[in-house]
Amino acid sequence: MAGQKIDGIAVANSVKERVRAAAETLRSEGIRPCLATVLVGENPASTIYVTNKQKACFEVGIETKDHKLPDSFSQQEMNSLIDLLNKDGTVHGILVQLPLPKQLDEFATTSRISPIKDVDGLTPYNIGLLASGRAILKPCTPSGIMELFDYYKIDLSGKNIVIINRSHLVGKPLYHLMLEKNATVTTCHSKTKNLKQHCLSTDIIITAIGDRSKFTLTADMISDGAIVIDVGTSRQDGKLVGDMDYENVIKKASYATPVPGGVGPMTIAMLLKNTVTAASISKGFVPSR
Ligand SMILES: NC(=O)c1ccc[n+]([C@@H]2O[C@H](COP(=O)([O-])OP(=O)(O)OC[C@H]3O[C@@H](n4cnc5c(N)ncnc54)[C@H](OP(=O)(O)O)[C@@H]3O)[C@@H](O)[C@H]2O)c1
Repeated sequence: MAGQKIDGIAVANSVKERVRAAAETLRSEGIRPCLATVLVGENPASTIYVTNKQKACFEVGIETKDHKLPDSFSQQEMNSLIDLLNKDGTVHGILVQLPLPKQLDEFATTSRISPIKDVDGLTPYNIGLLASGRAILKPCTPSGIMELFDYYKIDLSGKNIVIINRSHLVGKPLYHLMLEKNATVTTCHSKTKNLKQHCLSTDIIITAIGDRSKFTLTADMISDGAIVIDVGTSRQDGKLVGDMDYENVIKKASYATPVPGGVGPMTIAMLLKNTVTAASISKGFVPSR
């Protein structure tokens, strides 16, 4: 029997409903939740991502302040902009779209964002809280994946999990979040030996490579009834694809996420959630983790 599709669009919609209600409550208390977006240059993919995030904000009643900057924007100008946004009481969340042009240091830029406006959860302060199991603003893609497990009532306690990715955006934060849920987590990457063996001997696989010329997760690489979450995105013949051969993997898995319609919508939904959380923090409210 084929496994169940994990429907990221449906789960994202349920998160958005909660965010819409929270934004309305905040507005009734005189706070208009607002996300400042910062886009440097004209990278087509980044431009689409920022437009989609702004559109999603509008749909749930979050205002946006758009900062589109030239490709030549300097580090000094970026620092001044972040400082201004940190001080601006009408801005609750700051999103700097990555990647940045070469002259800008991504770590220096994200580190400068005030931790209470850090809706991507990428500042060293929030990463430290995450590693201590105390983060409130968590990176959007990993927390979106955790939301999928919650929604489908998949208990991670005692499960073996393989994450194929060790980036700051995906693999490292996810490792901490899953460890908090009492899973046994193995992080794999490009230097891992016997990747197939790791995949075959685990309950859950999270794959986030994003290059089908290097790696495709096929049905012969998973155990019967495994759960597979596909974070990777790349283009094949102009079509958006993930890391896995979804059509065949779903026949053997118990659950799997499609691309598109899996993790992607969750990333945006969690950004919206973080923005209303940041707006709540601005009025002194400390949300539960
Ligand atoms: N859907 C969403 O919302 C969403 C959000 C974030 C990211 N993504 C997608 O997720 C993917 C990863 O993003 P990222 O920012 O984390 O990228 P990244 O920093 O390039 O990370 C890619 C990871 O894949 C590993 N890798 C590469 N080739 C491999 C191989 N042959 N075998 C095993 N591991 C291999 C790399 O290992 P090394 O560390 O050894 O190089 C690295 O850890 C991209 O496709 C991105 O578009 C999607």
